Amino acid sequence: MANRTPFIAGNWKLHKDCADSITFAEELKRAIPQDIDVDVMVAPTFTALHPVCEALKGSPIAVGAQDMFWEAQGAWTGEISADMIRSCGCTHVIIGHSERRQFFGETDETVNAKLKAALAAGLVPIVCIGETDAERKAGKTFDVLGTQVTKGLNGIDPETLAPVILAYEPVWAIGTGNTATPEMVQEVHAFLRKSVADTTHKELANAMRILYGGSVKSGNIAELMGLNDVDGALVGGASLETESFSGIVRYK
Ligand code: 13P
Repeated sequence: MANRTPFIAGNWKLHKDCADSITFAEELKRAIPQDIDVDVMVAPTFTALHPVCEALKGSPIAVGAQDMFWEAQGAWTGEISADMIRSCGCTHVIIGHSERRQFFGETDETVNAKLKAALAAGLVPIVCIGETDAERKAGKTFDVLGTQVTKGLNGIDPETLAPVILAYEPVWAIGTGNTATPEMVQEVHAFLRKSVADTTHKELANAMRILYGGSVKSGNIAELMGLNDVDGALVGGASLETESFSGIVRYK
């Protein structure tokens, strides 16, 4: 089995202004050991990216954006490019979060365009996928996820896909307290690894980190991380406080 370094990411969503983000980043820097053997990332709002990158300099905590646009520059009012994100000091970017898909018109095609642009700019993309409650109840979970993977990765040279991290976030588990059961998570993650192998090749799929997201807390992280195909977590609510996030990061 491939040796995949665990990856724990905090998605701050629409929380914390600049001052609060800096204070929180400084607290995390103190709370998370310098020699932690887990990759850790936080994703503040766009306006806090640069100050948080500055605050976390010299710490093991990486910084990512919550979204990006696929064009590099031009008349695209309100958008942010991959290079702009990099110029703030970020190394990562979340793409295709279900909240973007649900409320802001994100599609598998726009995810694909963003993924290409992120890779070209040298950012590590965290590509989010996940089924809704209605899709799961209708027995469509694997169809939906398979399509999201194949369309998301469509037309991208597998040789360039190595940095990509996949995040499985069932929409019905986000912010609801309803974590998917370990059986559901392992079943989906194994399916996703196979889908990536079928779309690209086996070595890439074996090396790719697949995160779980949806009501992850310090109380359920160890069990999730014990599953064969779970390589980390994308955390929302429980990433907003030092104690809960550092507890998740130090799950071992
Ligand atoms: P919660 O951890 O609040 O369920 O959010 C998960 C999520 O959407 C992370 O991107």
